[in-house]
Amino acid sequence: MDDVLRYEGTRALVTGAASGMGAATASILAELGAEVHGLDIQDGDGSLDNLHRCDLGDPEAIDSVVEVVGGPIDSLFNCAGLPTTAPDRQVMLVNFCGHRHLTERVIPLMAPGGSIAFISSVAGMGWIVNAASMLAFVAQPDFAAGEAWLDANPDPWTGNGYACSKEAINAYVAWRGFQLAPEGIRLNSLNPGPTDTPMMPAFIESQGQEFFDNFPKPVGRNSTAEEQAWCLVMLNSPRSSYVVATSVFADGGFTGGLFTGGIDPTVLMPPE
Ligand SMILES: NC(=O)c1ccc[n+]([C@@H]2O[C@H](COP(=O)([O-])OP(=O)(O)OC[C@H]3O[C@@H](n4cnc5c(N)ncnc54)[C@H](O)[C@@H]3O)[C@@H](O)[C@H]2O)c1
Repeated sequence: MDDVLRYEGTRALVTGAASGMGAATASILAELGAEVHGLDIQDGDGSLDNLHRCDLGDPEAIDSVVEVVGGPIDSLFNCAGLPTTAPDRQVMLVNFCGHRHLTERVIPLMAPGGSIAFISSVAGMGWIVNAASMLAFVAQPDFAAGEAWLDANPDPWTGNGYACSKEAINAYVAWRGFQLAPEGIRLNSLNPGPTDTPMMPAFIESQGQEFFDNFPKPVGRNSTAEEQAWCLVMLNSPRSSYVVATSVFADGGFTGGLFTGGIDPTVLMPPE
């Protein structure tokens, strides 16, 4: 069967396309016959024809890229992110507020059948415990209102920007994905476990090598960027048409063990 995942002739926009999982996603989509537009703050290796330089912390810059790319857009892959070493407020703005701004700009350019996938993280698995504050945050109507909410509510994210940004993604995906379902637009997130990309040294710098040496890995290794990219490509494919408003985990069995007692949660505590 040709074009099994049905990307041939479609138009896709990928954030974080210059590196890691975003670059791997863009490359797979191009191989599958999509017209791929990338968005990133850095230049890539030149392999992607349409890479638009843009800071996701700047809503006007996002608007300019959306204008240049134009519609229709069939699938949006929100892969960019700042790691745990970046300042918390900037992490919240780039990982969540900028991506939400982009997503809300792209939705009107999508026809029924359109799909949006965010990369969240196992770090965002606890979003449902913090749903009250996360839903208040993600329901803010625009980038400026999101910024104002962060300034008025520093507790959830101060010292915890990365995990909080990923919880916000998962809350938004459930809340907004439910709203979009009747319009035929699917919104989901992929939650990777530790993945060997250029971001990994930043995680090791903030958490320590020992934390990652002890991090439980039921399949015995970290993920590759390509393994995560294929999950994203499948998630946004029309073949996944009944996967709606949900968080999918690609973590090598980590949360399965954690939620059923096979993994001791104290291994996740930061070193004293
Ligand atoms: N590597 C891991 O272990 C891991 C695990 C779970 C989730 N994630 C998430 O996966 C996603 C992809 O990360 P990766 O591991 O491929 O890392 P990466 O560093 O290779 O890719 C991240 C990309 O985001 C871009 N970016 C950063 N700030 C930006 C901004 N302000 N505007 C536009 N682009 C910006 C970077 O330039 C880079 O190209 C991120 O959202 C990350 O949080 C990573």
